[in-house]
Amino acid sequence: MSRLLWFVLGFVVALAVLVVGGYLFLVSGGVRMETTASPLPLERTVARMALHVAYSGSMEQKDPLPPDEANMVAGAQTYKVDCAMCHGLPGAASSLIARGMFPDPPQLFEQKDMVTDDPEGITYWKVTHGIRLSGMPGFGGTLADTARWQVTMLVAHADKLPAAARAALAR
Ligand code: HEC
Repeated sequence: MSRLLWFVLGFVVALAVLVVGGYLFLVSGGVRMETTASPLPLERTVARMALHVAYSGSMEQKDPLPPDEANMVAGAQTYKVDCAMCHGLPGAASSLIARGMFPDPPQLFEQKDMVTDDPEGITYWKVTHGIRLSGMPGFGGTLADTARWQVTMLVAHADKLPAAARAALAR
């Protein structure tokens, strides 16, 4: 046999081993589906890389609304209805829903999880498109542009909210 033929044969065998190996890994329960199971090797890295590529074009996008009390109060009203059950409220324990999810929904009013340093374009992208296979819904088809920017503004100012927005979250 010619060298080329050996090469092609080797390639096909390697491919078959990969496919069969992947299949056996799957049917033997290698990919756990419980929310309590730990992530697969590289799962977080792959998901983070894919997400970064997806939103990278939106990083420079700026909130068109003025960062005032009225917009943050409106953002707080949206947040209470559509986000709080997963992302929590200031000073409150996380919900049973949040505690049962994989991956964990960041608690956006807790110091360690706040997105106050994230470019608002990224937060707006996540609110609009959601994050597939994470539980984070996309609101692009259900909340108006203005409402998505208002809730983005709210979580971007989580550490320095005006009193009226805090009161709206507490109501
Ligand atoms: C059903 C639960 C659920 C709801 C409702 C939900 N989210 Fe999320 N959200 C998640 C999860 C889970 C993640 C984490 C995804 C990941 O790890 O990639 C997330 C991620 C995010 C992030 C990225 C946080 C970070 O640290 O990078 C932001 C910002 C966010 N959500 C905002 C919102 C806003 C605003 C709303 C309401 C309009 C909302 N989410 C509604 C589950 C939810």
